[in-house]
Amino acid sequence: MKAEMAEQVATFPAKYGRVPHLVVILVGEDPASQSYVRGKAKASEVVGIKNTTILRPADIPEAELLELIASLNADASVDGILVQLPLPPHISEDRVIAAIAKEKDVDGFHPLNVAALWMRQPCTVPCTPKGILRMLDSVGIDPKGKRAVVIGRSQIVGLPVAKLLLDRNATVTICHSRTADLPAVTRQAEILVVAIGRPRFVTADMVAPGAVVIDVGVNRDPETGKLCGDVDYEAVEPKASVITPVPGGVGPMTITCLMENTIECFLRKQEKAE
Ligand code: GUN
Repeated sequence: MKAEMAEQVATFPAKYGRVPHLVVILVGEDPASQSYVRGKAKASEVVGIKNTTILRPADIPEAELLELIASLNADASVDGILVQLPLPPHISEDRVIAAIAKEKDVDGFHPLNVAALWMRQPCTVPCTPKGILRMLDSVGIDPKGKRAVVIGRSQIVGLPVAKLLLDRNATVTICHSRTADLPAVTRQAEILVVAIGRPRFVTADMVAPGAVVIDVGVNRDPETGKLCGDVDYEAVEPKASVITPVPGGVGPMTITCLMENTIECFLRKQEKAE
Protein backbone atom coordinates (compact mmCIF):
# COMPACT_ATOMS: atom_id res chain seq x y z
CA MET A 1 0.00 0.00 0.00
CA LYS A 2 2.81 2.38 0.89
CA ALA A 3 4.58 1.75 -2.43
CA GLU A 4 1.35 2.44 -4.34
CA MET A 5 0.75 5.62 -2.38
CA ALA A 6 4.36 6.74 -2.97
CA GLU A 7 3.81 6.36 -6.72
CA GLN A 8 0.58 8.33 -6.51
CA VAL A 9 2.06 11.11 -4.35
CA ALA A 10 5.01 11.44 -6.76
CA THR A 11 2.53 12.68 -9.40
CA PHE A 12 1.11 15.43 -7.15
CA PRO A 13 3.76 18.18 -7.54
CA ALA A 14 3.16 18.27 -11.33
CA LYS A 15 -0.62 18.13 -10.89
CA TYR A 16 -1.19 20.25 -7.79
CA GLY A 17 2.10 22.05 -7.18
CA ARG A 18 2.84 20.31 -3.89
CA VAL A 19 2.58 17.11 -1.81
CA PRO A 20 0.13 16.48 1.09
CA HIS A 21 1.17 17.94 4.45
CA LEU A 22 0.40 16.18 7.74
CA VAL A 23 0.92 17.95 11.06
CA VAL A 24 1.22 15.77 14.16
CA ILE A 25 1.00 17.37 17.60
CA LEU A 26 2.52 15.57 20.56
CA VAL A 27 1.85 16.94 24.05
CA GLY A 28 4.20 15.69 26.76
CA GLU A 29 6.82 12.94 26.70
CA ASP A 30 4.95 9.64 27.01
CA PRO A 31 7.38 7.06 25.51
CA ALA A 32 4.63 5.07 23.74
CA SER A 33 3.21 8.25 22.16
CA GLN A 34 6.72 9.35 21.14
CA SER A 35 7.21 6.00 19.43
CA TYR A 36 3.84 6.24 17.59
CA VAL A 37 4.64 9.77 16.43
CA ARG A 38 8.05 8.63 15.13
CA GLY A 39 6.30 5.83 13.22
CA LYS A 40 3.98 8.35 11.60
CA ALA A 41 6.92 10.56 10.55
CA LYS A 42 8.79 7.57 9.12
CA ALA A 43 5.80 6.35 7.10
CA SER A 44 5.23 9.88 5.79
CA GLU A 45 8.80 9.92 4.52
CA VAL A 46 8.36 6.58 2.74
CA VAL A 47 5.14 7.72 1.06
CA GLY A 48 6.46 11.21 0.23
CA ILE A 49 4.05 13.09 2.47
CA LYS A 50 5.40 16.20 4.19
CA ASN A 51 5.30 15.66 7.96
CA THR A 52 5.65 18.30 10.63
CA THR A 53 5.76 17.09 14.21
CA ILE A 54 5.01 19.79 16.77
CA LEU A 55 6.13 19.06 20.34
CA ARG A 56 4.52 20.84 23.28
CA PRO A 57 5.17 20.42 27.03
CA ALA A 58 2.75 18.37 29.15
CA ASP A 59 1.73 21.51 31.06
CA ILE A 60 0.61 23.47 28.00
CA PRO A 61 -2.67 25.27 28.83
CA GLU A 62 -5.65 23.90 26.91
CA ALA A 63 -6.34 27.36 25.44
CA GLU A 64 -2.86 27.44 23.93
CA LEU A 65 -3.33 24.04 22.30
CA LEU A 66 -6.69 25.17 20.90
CA GLU A 67 -5.01 28.31 19.49
CA LEU A 68 -2.35 26.17 17.82
CA ILE A 69 -5.06 24.02 16.23
CA ALA A 70 -6.95 27.13 15.07
CA SER A 71 -3.81 28.43 13.35
CA LEU A 72 -3.27 25.08 11.59
CA ASN A 73 -6.95 25.02 10.55
CA ALA A 74 -6.43 28.41 8.93
CA ASP A 75 -3.15 27.41 7.24
CA ALA A 76 -3.89 26.49 3.62
CA SER A 77 -0.61 24.55 3.35
CA VAL A 78 -1.77 22.03 5.98
CA ASP A 79 -3.98 19.10 4.86
CA GLY A 80 -4.13 16.89 7.94
CA ILE A 81 -3.95 17.56 11.68
CA LEU A 82 -3.47 14.78 14.21
CA VAL A 83 -3.25 15.33 17.97
CA GLN A 84 -1.68 12.26 19.54
CA LEU A 85 -3.84 10.81 22.33
CA PRO A 86 -3.99 10.46 25.27
CA LEU A 87 -3.67 14.08 26.40
CA PRO A 88 -2.75 15.18 29.94
CA PRO A 89 -5.74 15.14 32.31
CA HIS A 90 -6.12 18.95 32.45
CA ILE A 91 -6.92 19.04 28.72
CA SER A 92 -10.31 17.98 27.35
CA GLU A 93 -9.77 15.49 24.52
CA ASP A 94 -13.34 16.13 23.35
CA ARG A 95 -12.74 19.87 23.03
CA VAL A 96 -9.41 19.34 21.25
CA ILE A 97 -10.86 16.86 18.75
CA ALA A 98 -13.85 19.10 18.05
CA ALA A 99 -11.49 22.06 17.46
CA ILE A 100 -9.83 20.36 14.47
CA ALA A 101 -11.42 21.38 11.15
CA LYS A 102 -13.37 18.31 10.08
CA GLU A 103 -11.79 18.51 6.60
CA LYS A 104 -8.33 18.12 8.23
CA ASP A 105 -9.37 15.46 10.76
CA VAL A 106 -7.21 12.57 9.46
CA ASP A 107 -8.10 10.45 12.53
CA GLY A 108 -11.84 10.58 11.78
CA PHE A 109 -12.52 11.45 15.43
CA HIS A 110 -14.37 14.75 14.93
CA PRO A 111 -18.06 14.54 15.99
CA LEU A 112 -19.17 15.32 12.42
CA ASN A 113 -16.99 12.52 11.02
CA VAL A 114 -18.28 10.10 13.67
CA ALA A 115 -21.88 11.05 12.85
CA ALA A 116 -21.22 10.66 9.12
CA LEU A 117 -19.76 7.17 9.67
CA TRP A 118 -22.84 6.05 11.62
CA MET A 119 -25.13 7.57 8.97
CA ARG A 120 -23.22 5.85 6.13
CA GLN A 121 -22.28 9.20 4.64
CA PRO A 122 -18.90 10.06 3.09
CA CYS A 123 -16.41 10.60 5.91
CA THR A 124 -12.86 10.05 7.09
CA VAL A 125 -12.85 6.50 8.49
CA PRO A 126 -10.72 6.07 11.66
CA CYS A 127 -7.36 4.51 10.79
CA THR A 128 -7.35 1.37 12.97
CA PRO A 129 -10.83 0.13 11.96
CA LYS A 130 -10.12 0.98 8.32
CA GLY A 131 -6.89 -1.02 8.46
CA ILE A 132 -8.64 -4.01 10.02
CA LEU A 133 -11.18 -4.15 7.18
CA ARG A 134 -8.32 -3.79 4.67
CA MET A 135 -6.52 -6.75 6.20
CA LEU A 136 -9.66 -8.92 6.00
CA ASP A 137 -10.12 -7.92 2.35
CA SER A 138 -6.46 -8.60 1.58
CA VAL A 139 -6.82 -12.27 2.55
CA GLY A 140 -10.24 -12.65 0.94
CA ILE A 141 -12.32 -12.79 4.12
CA ASP A 142 -15.80 -11.40 3.45
CA PRO A 143 -17.58 -10.46 6.71
CA LYS A 144 -20.99 -10.96 5.06
CA GLY A 145 -23.17 -13.31 7.10
CA LYS A 146 -20.35 -14.10 9.56
CA ARG A 147 -20.55 -13.86 13.34
CA ALA A 148 -18.14 -11.10 14.35
CA VAL A 149 -17.32 -10.42 17.99
CA VAL A 150 -15.57 -7.21 19.04
CA ILE A 151 -14.08 -7.03 22.54
CA GLY A 152 -13.86 -3.37 23.53
CA ARG A 153 -16.19 -0.43 22.96
CA SER A 154 -13.85 2.54 22.55
CA GLN A 155 -14.56 5.48 20.24
CA ILE A 156 -11.22 4.86 18.51
CA VAL A 157 -11.53 1.14 17.74
CA GLY A 158 -14.37 -0.95 19.20
CA LEU A 159 -17.37 1.13 18.14
CA PRO A 160 -16.20 2.10 14.63
CA VAL A 161 -14.88 -1.38 13.73
CA ALA A 162 -18.23 -2.87 14.84
CA LYS A 163 -20.03 -0.37 12.61
CA LEU A 164 -17.79 -1.14 9.60
CA LEU A 165 -18.34 -4.89 10.07
CA LEU A 166 -22.09 -4.29 10.34
CA ASP A 167 -21.97 -2.27 7.11
CA ARG A 168 -20.29 -5.28 5.50
CA ASN A 169 -23.22 -7.44 6.66
CA ALA A 170 -21.57 -9.29 9.52
CA THR A 171 -23.66 -10.14 12.59
CA VAL A 172 -21.84 -8.15 15.23
CA THR A 173 -21.64 -8.56 19.00
CA ILE A 174 -19.80 -5.96 21.08
CA CYS A 175 -18.39 -7.27 24.38
CA HIS A 176 -16.79 -5.37 27.24
CA SER A 177 -15.66 -5.69 30.85
CA ARG A 178 -19.22 -6.26 32.10
CA THR A 179 -20.12 -8.98 29.56
CA ALA A 180 -21.34 -12.13 31.33
CA ASP A 181 -19.53 -15.34 30.35
CA LEU A 182 -17.28 -13.67 27.81
CA PRO A 183 -15.59 -16.94 26.68
CA ALA A 184 -18.98 -18.37 25.68
CA VAL A 185 -19.56 -15.32 23.47
CA THR A 186 -16.07 -15.18 21.94
CA ARG A 187 -16.19 -18.91 21.13
CA GLN A 188 -19.07 -18.12 18.74
CA ALA A 189 -16.90 -15.70 16.76
CA GLU A 190 -15.87 -16.43 13.19
CA ILE A 191 -14.13 -13.04 13.25
CA LEU A 192 -12.75 -11.93 16.62
CA VAL A 193 -11.46 -8.37 17.05
CA VAL A 194 -9.76 -7.72 20.38
CA ALA A 195 -9.19 -4.17 21.62
CA ILE A 196 -9.28 -4.08 25.40
CA GLY A 197 -5.70 -3.29 26.35
CA ARG A 198 -4.96 -6.25 28.62
CA PRO A 199 -1.84 -8.34 27.93
CA ARG A 200 -2.60 -11.85 26.59
CA PHE A 201 -6.25 -11.59 27.74
CA VAL A 202 -7.63 -13.88 25.03
CA THR A 203 -6.59 -17.47 25.63
CA ALA A 204 -6.97 -20.53 23.37
CA ASP A 205 -10.13 -21.74 25.13
CA MET A 206 -11.88 -18.48 24.14
CA VAL A 207 -11.34 -19.00 20.40
CA ALA A 208 -13.25 -21.24 17.99
CA PRO A 209 -11.18 -23.48 15.69
CA GLY A 210 -10.64 -21.67 12.38
CA ALA A 211 -11.50 -18.21 13.71
CA VAL A 212 -10.02 -15.05 12.21
CA VAL A 213 -8.29 -13.21 15.07
CA ILE A 214 -7.40 -9.53 14.92
CA ASP A 215 -5.31 -8.28 17.85
CA VAL A 216 -5.44 -4.51 18.38
CA GLY A 217 -3.67 -4.57 21.76
CA VAL A 218 -0.34 -2.89 22.40
CA ASN A 219 0.80 -3.82 25.89
CA ARG A 220 3.97 -4.39 27.83
CA ASP A 221 4.34 -7.95 29.06
CA PRO A 222 4.35 -7.53 32.86
CA GLU A 223 7.13 -10.15 33.20
CA THR A 224 9.48 -9.48 30.29
CA GLY A 225 8.60 -5.83 29.54
CA LYS A 226 8.35 -6.75 25.84
CA LEU A 227 5.51 -5.58 23.58
CA CYS A 228 2.59 -7.97 23.45
CA GLY A 229 -1.02 -7.97 22.29
CA ASP A 230 -4.38 -8.64 23.91
CA VAL A 231 -4.22 -12.20 22.53
CA ASP A 232 -1.99 -15.01 23.76
CA TYR A 233 -0.47 -15.40 20.29
CA GLU A 234 1.52 -18.60 20.85
CA ALA A 235 -1.51 -20.44 22.27
CA VAL A 236 -4.12 -19.04 19.86
CA GLU A 237 -2.14 -19.11 16.59
CA PRO A 238 -2.42 -22.90 16.05
CA LYS A 239 -6.20 -22.71 16.53
CA ALA A 240 -6.92 -19.65 14.37
CA SER A 241 -7.16 -19.74 10.58
CA VAL A 242 -5.41 -16.36 10.45
CA ILE A 243 -4.17 -14.08 13.21
CA THR A 244 -2.37 -10.73 13.38
CA PRO A 245 0.88 -10.52 15.37
CA VAL A 246 1.89 -7.82 17.88
CA PRO A 247 4.06 -6.02 17.05
CA GLY A 248 3.79 -5.97 13.27
CA GLY A 249 0.05 -6.36 12.65
CA VAL A 250 -2.62 -3.77 13.30
CA GLY A 251 -0.12 -1.07 14.34
CA PRO A 252 1.73 -0.63 11.03
CA MET A 253 -1.58 -1.03 9.17
CA THR A 254 -3.07 1.83 11.20
CA ILE A 255 -0.20 4.11 10.23
CA THR A 256 -0.55 3.09 6.59
CA CYS A 257 -4.24 4.03 6.70
CA LEU A 258 -3.29 7.38 8.26
CA MET A 259 -1.20 8.03 5.15
CA GLU A 260 -4.21 7.13 3.02
CA ASN A 261 -6.50 9.43 5.04
CA THR A 262 -4.01 12.27 4.64
CA ILE A 263 -3.96 11.79 0.87
CA GLU A 264 -7.78 11.67 0.83
CA CYS A 265 -8.04 14.96 2.77
CA PHE A 266 -5.50 16.54 0.40
CA LEU A 267 -7.37 15.35 -2.70
CA ARG A 268 -10.76 16.52 -1.41
CA LYS A 269 -9.25 19.95 -0.91
CA GLN A 270 -7.84 19.97 -4.46
CA GLU A 271 -11.23 18.96 -5.89
CA LYS A 272 -12.90 21.78 -3.97
CA ALA A 273 -10.38 24.27 -5.31
CA GLU A 274 -10.94 23.25 -8.94
N1 GUN B 1 -3.54 7.15 20.38
C1 GUN B 1 -3.74 5.82 20.20
N2 GUN B 1 -4.29 5.58 19.00
C2 GUN B 1 -4.45 6.78 18.41
C3 GUN B 1 -4.96 7.19 17.14
O1 GUN B 1 -5.40 6.39 16.30
N3 GUN B 1 -4.92 8.52 16.91
C4 GUN B 1 -4.46 9.43 17.80
N4 GUN B 1 -4.50 10.71 17.49
N5 GUN B 1 -3.99 9.09 18.99
C5 GUN B 1 -3.98 7.76 19.27
